[in-house]
Amino acid sequence: MNEKNIVNLFKELHGNFTNLLNSFSALSILSSLELRDVDETTLLHNALRGLLENLDITSCSVFLLHDDTLKNCIGLDHEDLTEGNFSSSHDRLSSTTVCIGEGIMGLAVKTKTLQHCRDCSSDPHFKILNGRAIGSLISAPIFQIGGEVLGVLNVSHPEPRAFTEWHERFLSVFCNFLGQLLINNRLLNHMDSEIEKRTEQLRDALVEARFAQKNLQLFKTIIESLQEAVTIQDSTDTLVYINPACEELFGYTLDQLRRTGLRACYAPESLEVLEKRMSPCILGGESWEGELSAVDATGGVFPVSCLAGAVRDGKGKVLFTFCFIRDLREQKRTEEEKKKLEAQLHHAQKMEAIGQLAGGVAHDFNNIITAITGYAHLLLMKMGKDDPLRHFAEQITASSERAVHVTSGLLAFSRKQSATPQPVSVNLLLKKVCNFLTRLLGEDIHLETRSYREELVVMADGSQLEQILMNLSTNARDAMRNGGRLTISTELFEMGEEFIQSHGYGEKGKYACISVEDTGTGMDDEVMERIFDPFFTTKEVGKGTGLGLSIVYGIVKQSNGYIDVCSKPGKGTRFRVFLPIINATATTVESSTSIPVNMCKGLILLAEDDDEVRKFNAGLLREFGYEVEEAIDGVDAVQRFLQRKDAVDLVMLDVVMPKMNGKDVYDRLKRIRPDVKVLFTSGYTPETISKKGILEENHHFLEKPHTPGELLKKVADLIQS
Ligand SMILES: Nc1ncnc2c1ncn2[C@@H]1O[C@H](COP(=O)(O)OP(=O)(O)OP(=O)(O)O)[C@@H](O)[C@H]1O
Ligand SMILES: [Mg+2]
Repeated sequence: MNEKNIVNLFKELHGNFTNLLNSFSALSILSSLELRDVDETTLLHNALRGLLENLDITSCSVFLLHDDTLKNCIGLDHEDLTEGNFSSSHDRLSSTTVCIGEGIMGLAVKTKTLQHCRDCSSDPHFKILNGRAIGSLISAPIFQIGGEVLGVLNVSHPEPRAFTEWHERFLSVFCNFLGQLLINNRLLNHMDSEIEKRTEQLRDALVEARFAQKNLQLFKTIIESLQEAVTIQDSTDTLVYINPACEELFGYTLDQLRRTGLRACYAPESLEVLEKRMSPCILGGESWEGELSAVDATGGVFPVSCLAGAVRDGKGKVLFTFCFIRDLREQKRTEEEKKKLEAQLHHAQKMEAIGQLAGGVAHDFNNIITAITGYAHLLLMKMGKDDPLRHFAEQITASSERAVHVTSGLLAFSRKQSATPQPVSVNLLLKKVCNFLTRLLGEDIHLETRSYREELVVMADGSQLEQILMNLSTNARDAMRNGGRLTISTELFEMGEEFIQSHGYGEKGKYACISVEDTGTGMDDEVMERIFDPFFTTKEVGKGTGLGLSIVYGIVKQSNGYIDVCSKPGKGTRFRVFLPIINATATTVESSTSIPVNMCKGLILLAEDDDEVRKFNAGLLREFGYEVEEAIDGVDAVQRFLQRKDAVDLVMLDVVMPKMNGKDVYDRLKRIRPDVKVLFTSGYTPETISKKGILEENHHFLEKPHTPGELLKKVADLIQS
């Protein structure tokens, strides 16, 4: 090998080595390119820049395949590098498109092989681009893995035959590498945008979830603060939720109810309603509302109202069923109280109306009867002793006396009875009355009295209160024909809102409560409704006037009190009278016990034609130590007086009596014994009788009806006078 050959070889080696270095630099630039967050154009620009800087080429460009057409993506030449501008060259090429198979680029794509035009002016495939002078041009297909063509890399030189085989090999490798980078860049960009999209979606989902959670929390708070019990079951009827109100209402926890099942919360008849009516209704797509009987954990049964429905998915499949349950106890109680109040009002209005009517009638009747009696007495006075018509006149006066009794009862009922209210101790009153009640009740009835430990003073007419006890006790006696027990007690009673609401009457405050309780026949509701009505009686004709309780009612009202009754057929009856307590000491109630028993001595001639009245009064007087001679009419009275005229301490004469009236008897007795003490009794007021000239004004007189206390007091006073 000569020296020239050696030099050429060296030159060749040097050229190869330089090429190797250059290609290494271009590839290393390629490998160091940033792929993330870089768009395709920038990536290609940086890649081509490495080519231009390291290879002896004047310009290069990349066309990428889009739907069978090559579209320029980037073009760069040496001038751009020196000007630091690449967009200009890009713009130059921006509108260029080439079809597959067209020109040298189209051929490179079609054949998938690198095309090398060594002398562009003489190559038929060459197509001048942008009017630039190009001597040499290489169009190399850019592949992705798998051999698919992504586009074409063009490198050019103004001189023909500027590129060698080495350039071809290098550019093939470069294009493979570039293809890979492009794919990786696309993947990364796609991944990044996908991640961004997913992140966005996740963020939206999170916001939605937070919103849903907030809503859920809100609904939970609402459901948990509801007063209604709420139950939720899934599609298999498994209980999934109950709110705190439900736990409280039924007394079960969710776990307990899961074990027992919701059936435990309803009475058998309601379970049938649930199965036959509620379930088909809600499963059929409608809501159901109704009243049921619920049962709590302690077995207590109570009314509830239920509203049930179902929650469905988009296809109409039932996901959950729910039930809102409301406790109706309070509502029912209020309704009942309202009904009671209305009934009370109705009753009060009725009593008021009857009272007014009865009062008016009684008042007029009293006047009429007074006239009838007066004239009948005048007739008697003017008639001869043996006048055959005398009997009729006596019948008129006797009937009038009964009529007076009725009208005085009606007057008491309508609160028109004259009364003298004063502070009265109910304990003392009871003590006083119970002495003669024993006689009234008879042996078969056991009387039990209980007095409150402290004084209970009320403002009332003492004798009216005695009458209340008398009338109530008489009724009790009549209801215990075969014997029994009568309990009379006094106690302090604090009337509060509860009593007022449940009874429908009353005013808050302290009351003396007098309770009269028997073990008699009792009454049904129908009778109880009417017991205070005047003339209402269940007793046989002639046995009761039906005025006893009307009088009691009138007196209680007149004393600003209340009366209630509690009774059941066969279980006895309890009347309670409530009288407002006053802050005062009682004026001395003349208790019968205040009359020393040793002073109650003497013989009394008692002339009274009414058997009941006579027997009762005689019994009472004997009870208190007197000896009593009973006379059934005026003539009988005179005869009996004649038999014991010196022993008789007092004569009690009914003014109106058959055969001989009280005034005539008195005149006869006066002649037999001028110092005889006489006490007249009558249903008429003393004024009426004296106005008609029947009695002298200075006669001792006891108006009927009178209380036992009044009788005993009057008798004791007269005997001792
Ligand atoms: N303690 C009681 N037990 C059962 N029923 C009673 C009782 N008290 C009253 N009644 C019923 O109430 C009715 C009315 O009583 P009220 O005292 O007004 O009249 P009376 O007793 O029938 O007649 P009078 O009292 O005028 O003799 C009675 O007929 C009776 O049916
Ligand atoms: Mg009665």
